[in-house]
Amino acid sequence: MFDKKTLHGKTAVITGGGSGLGLAMAEMFATLGARVIICGRTEEKLKKAVLSIKEKAASANDDVEIPEPDWFSVDVRDYEAVELMANEIEKRYGLPDILVNNAAGNFLSASENLSKNAFKTIVDIVLHGTFNCTRIFGSKWIEAGKAASVLNIVTTYTESGSSFVLPSACAKAGVYAMTNSLAYEWATYNIRLNSIAPGPFPTEGAWSRLLPDEKMEKSYLKMIPAGRYGRHEELANLAVFLVSDLSPYITGECVTIDGGERLKSGQFNFITQMAERPQLKQFFSMMKPSRK
Ligand code: COA
Repeated sequence: MFDKKTLHGKTAVITGGGSGLGLAMAEMFATLGARVIICGRTEEKLKKAVLSIKEKAASANDDVEIPEPDWFSVDVRDYEAVELMANEIEKRYGLPDILVNNAAGNFLSASENLSKNAFKTIVDIVLHGTFNCTRIFGSKWIEAGKAASVLNIVTTYTESGSSFVLPSACAKAGVYAMTNSLAYEWATYNIRLNSIAPGPFPTEGAWSRLLPDEKMEKSYLKMIPAGRYGRHEELANLAVFLVSDLSPYITGECVTIDGGERLKSGQFNFITQMAERPQLKQFFSMMKPSRK
């Protein structure tokens, strides 16, 4: 889809890059020539992810030399640890060009049963983690006069909210507000901030916590007009477009990628569930008054 040098010469930091969509973005960025630096909490996962990034990038692109990916075992909730990581990245590779705030946490729970710590844990990872990374790299970029691009992963329920994921809904709404606030404030420094709101993309992390059984998964699928879940490379392609020099005038934008799921509240959309399309068409034509 992209020129193989689209991200050549760029360094990208991806939080939560050891698995799921973070890893999919890391693999795609590396394939297009970027030096990718992933961080997460689990060393073993990160080491395995780096090998996979290297392998995938090398097999998909032999036109460009792919810089060695790197990893840091860092919990984004820990401001000082993020600061140490940022200093070390700067020392090793110079300031990055791209930051993807992807690290997240989520689980299903009735809100009245949430403990204080459960709510705080998710808000700490998602909202504070995004602030920590953005604040730390942002101030470095501003001081150095370096142009940069930030991509925040939000959700399709950022604006609507959602039952049973209250901490995540509140935290992601905060991230959405942060994206737009800084997009305006930091445009003068040539720092762009955008977000992606992914609908259903199967990952081990999300599926095991949010759609743990087949029945749930099947009822969920029915709500997606495209009739399927998202493919990781579809999200990674969108991420490449938003972080790269292909979109220099786009900032403060949130792109939803969900096969149309967000439109489910359309008043007569329920009809699509009632019968197959040929039967529905027949029914509509029967309702049409005949011309004399
Ligand atoms: N339902 C209700 N409360 C829950 C919960 C659940 N399914 N899972 C965790 N909690 C509560 C814990 O009980 C604890 O609260 P307490 O101290 O009052 O008992 C609090 O949340 C923190 O849990 P803990 O396991 O100590 O936190 P952690 O920092 O080790 O893990 C999570 C963070 C909970 C988000 C964990 O699920 C995780 O690591 N997820 C990462 C990946 C992820 O969530 N991916 C999905 C992205 S869509």
